[in-house]
Amino acid sequence: MINNLICSNPWMEIQIEYNFNIGCCCYYNGIRPKWNFLETPKFVLQNYWNNDFFQQLRKIVINNEYFNSGCKNCQELILGFQNTSSDHLTKLNTIQKENYLKAIYNLKNKKTVIDNLPVRYYFNFGLDCNLNCIMCSQKHLRRQKYHILPSSIFENLQDYFPYAERITLVGGEPLLIQDCIYFIDKFSKQKQLEDVTLGLITNGTLLDKYLPLLRRIKRLNIAISLDAIEETYEYIRKGSSWKKVEKNILKIKNLIDESKLEWSISINCVVMKSNLKEINSFFKWIYGNNLKLTIVPVVNNNLNNAECIFDFPQLLDEIPEWEEIIAESIDILENYDLPSSKRLKILFTKLKQSYLTYKQNKNFYPKERIYLNNRELIDYLNQNGKFMIWGTGSFYKNNFSRFIKTKPSNFLGFIDNNSSLWDSELDGFKVFSPDVLFKLKPNSILIASMFIKEIKTQIMDMGIDFCKVY
Ligand SMILES: C[S@@+](CC[C@H](N)C(=O)[O-])C[C@H]1O[C@@H](n2cnc3c(N)ncnc32)[C@H](O)[C@@H]1O
Ligand code: SF4
Ligand code: SF4
Repeated sequence: MINNLICSNPWMEIQIEYNFNIGCCCYYNGIRPKWNFLETPKFVLQNYWNNDFFQQLRKIVINNEYFNSGCKNCQELILGFQNTSSDHLTKLNTIQKENYLKAIYNLKNKKTVIDNLPVRYYFNFGLDCNLNCIMCSQKHLRRQKYHILPSSIFENLQDYFPYAERITLVGGEPLLIQDCIYFIDKFSKQKQLEDVTLGLITNGTLLDKYLPLLRRIKRLNIAISLDAIEETYEYIRKGSSWKKVEKNILKIKNLIDESKLEWSISINCVVMKSNLKEINSFFKWIYGNNLKLTIVPVVNNNLNNAECIFDFPQLLDEIPEWEEIIAESIDILENYDLPSSKRLKILFTKLKQSYLTYKQNKNFYPKERIYLNNRELIDYLNQNGKFMIWGTGSFYKNNFSRFIKTKPSNFLGFIDNNSSLWDSELDGFKVFSPDVLFKLKPNSILIASMFIKEIKTQIMDMGIDFCKVY
């Protein structure tokens, strides 16, 4: 059993994504190495698995330096890493088990250059999807040109796959992407991969179509994303049909129960504003059908914030009974699913804290921030007095630079904690130290950084109460 405060991912997992990124989890927020498959079509595992990035990540874990690194805002650090139970070892064959135990040995002995192969692979094939979910953290990226991870990744890595415990496929919608279907087909035809579990993270809409293909796989884990039932489901998962997805889920569940397949099915639920009211009827449906559940908090996608109750607790004012609802959820979950109830308790505590902070500092949680897009926000701030932007890095450049370049008349300049930038110019405006706020007294400050919470706290600690913080 691995301690649930230690992240084992850098010893276990490699993730390869359509946008060329390589990593070991979805949560790391620092710079990742790239594999550009358009320029070098062959993926050479040895070039990455022990490269500087992976060694550095292993050092972060060994030295418990999560909070000074790209791991800083990792959701798993807050909710606790999922324990790997020892009984799963009995399901592994000899080479899988040896590789897994080597990984554990390397982790326990604090090795940063390791001789085990990845225990898990995770392939993100691209952004193509047949739905348009209201909270989707990816859909704004679909506007940009993107590539599809080529199916040749299978041939590139197939010699290593027999050592792995699991290979997970995700998208967009993985079952909509032909390269992913090709991968599944190849996988299903390799006898030496029959002990490897194929994982699918899917919206469940195409499972009926691909059931004959999936039936060829011995070990399959299907994680279906479902956050509500009936009308609320269809409101959230725009383009999907509740009846159809419910039928697909129950069909597979029955197939597993009746045919004694080595398959498992689980439900991934994103907790957000639109499912909070009815979340208890959803949980009852889950447990009534004897399904497994994983709960995750909605993350902010910088385009549509109207679901993000964790970053924008002011949204909870629209659901006055939210505390009673979550307390009831915890009661329900305690009877069926202790790990989920623990996760929900942690989320509930977090939510209560941010709601309290919001109630005490209303200037820091303006409603406009939720509903206006970046262009509208700059226009709004410009129409409502003098404003400044805190942050000059890539977040600013990606989100606001093109609007600031139009020289809004009430923009006073930038704030940054990095003293080497003070007095320099960016997009035609000066960069200042935080102290200038007392002198210039803007009506609003827009935070353009992923360290939004830390910067808000810094502004609160400075005792600034004369402006709104966006
Ligand atoms: C982006 S989807 C891709 C796979 C597939 N299309 C699906 O929905 O399952 C992967 C997972 O991210 C979740 N997700 C989407 N938007 C999210 C958000 N804003 N915050 C947290 N999870 C989100 C989905 O519910 C799903 O479980
Ligand atoms: S971001 Fe989280 S999951 Fe990823 S390596 Fe860091 S601690 Fe582990
Ligand atoms: S199905 Fe998945 S990828 Fe598609 S819009 Fe919904 S969350 Fe996003």
